[in-house]
Amino acid sequence: MNRPEITLILARAANGVIGADGKMPWHLPADLRRFKQLTMGRPMIMGRKTFDSLPAILEGRRHIVLTRDRDWQEEGAEPVATVEEALKLANAPHVMVIGGAEIYQLFLPLADRIELTEVALSPAGDASIAAPDPAEWREIAREDHPAADGRPAFAFVTLARKRG
Ligand SMILES: NC(=O)c1ccc[n+]([C@@H]2O[C@H](COP(=O)([O-])OP(=O)(O)OC[C@H]3O[C@@H](n4cnc5c(N)ncnc54)[C@H](OP(=O)(O)O)[C@@H]3O)[C@@H](O)[C@H]2O)c1
Repeated sequence: MNRPEITLILARAANGVIGADGKMPWHLPADLRRFKQLTMGRPMIMGRKTFDSLPAILEGRRHIVLTRDRDWQEEGAEPVATVEEALKLANAPHVMVIGGAEIYQLFLPLADRIELTEVALSPAGDASIAAPDPAEWREIAREDHPAADGRPAFAFVTLARKRG
């Protein structure tokens, strides 16, 4: 089949942090709901560390996991060693790349779309990524949410790759 449409989905703090100690350094229920809605029914591709960070297998979605360890296996995970192998195994018109930082880096050159949650915090962390380059990405949707109930402000932003 042709190359699938590839969407990166990620939540990123203002200072670039996406993870700390194997977890996300915030709790945003609205973001988790959006993640579920956007990933449901689509194969998810992730790094082994992100798989390890999941509380459980996420229903209704395949878990394709990049690892260099040929012996690695876990219930519910489909291990692969390369980007090409991940896309081939997914065998779907639209795949979701769900992190973490290493795996976003690998797939960024191939990605068609980024579903970004901008989180108005600057926490300490050990996994971070650069902001999408405006020369390469065009904002096609934005939904701003003010801080409320002890949660930080955040925005749901959809970015499409600029063509030509
Ligand atoms: N904010 C968000 O949206 C978001 C989303 C996802 C994750 N996170 C956070 O991000 C952190 C994890 O990110 P991370 O960058 O440390 O790890 P990661 O990208 O989830 O996984 C890294 C692992 O992927 C495998 N890998 C990496 N490059 C590979 C390649 N070229 N070929 C084959 N396998 C490869 C390796 O597994 P092996 O070591 O097994 O070989 C590597 O250790 C956690 O804190 C998590 O909570 C945040």
